[in-house]
Amino acid sequence: MSASVLEVVPLDAVPADLLAAARAAWGHAYAPYSGFSVGAALRDGEGRIHAGANVENASYGLGRCAEQSAVQAMASAGGRQLVEIVIVTVADPAASPCGACRQVLNEFGADATVFLVNERHAWRTSVASLLPDGFRLSPRPPR
Ligand code: THU
Repeated sequence: MSASVLEVVPLDAVPADLLAAARAAWGHAYAPYSGFSVGAALRDGEGRIHAGANVENASYGLGRCAEQSAVQAMASAGGRQLVEIVIVTVADPAASPCGACRQVLNEFGADATVFLVNERHAWRTSVASLLPDGFRLSPRPPR
């Protein structure tokens, strides 16, 4: 098994505004098929907060992860820089973003800080740690 890139941190090391927004989004998750709710909230380069939850579908493959919902909200509002993101589940240890989400996070914030949180504990890492040498298109498309 490879070494974990997650660092245990106290819950109060998690930005309180993002934590509240991620918990609220967690409460809005639409996960009737898996029963596994995920909430995410991120801060963009202008300091704005964008949140998202997982949204499943009767056609299972069309489900959308919480992290991707939050990134979609940011980009749709004109945000182009992911600074930090908080991801909330009730898993223990807290759930870590899936491979597809890591790539989506990498698009806007390879250096972003990632907090994984459950009801009582928190872990900190970064997008670069979760996705070393992530794919980027070169030359970069217009932003
Ligand atoms: N899910 C997320 O929202 N984020 C992840 O990084 C992994 C999984 C969701 C997808 C699905 O709705 C549920 O969790 C169970 O896989």
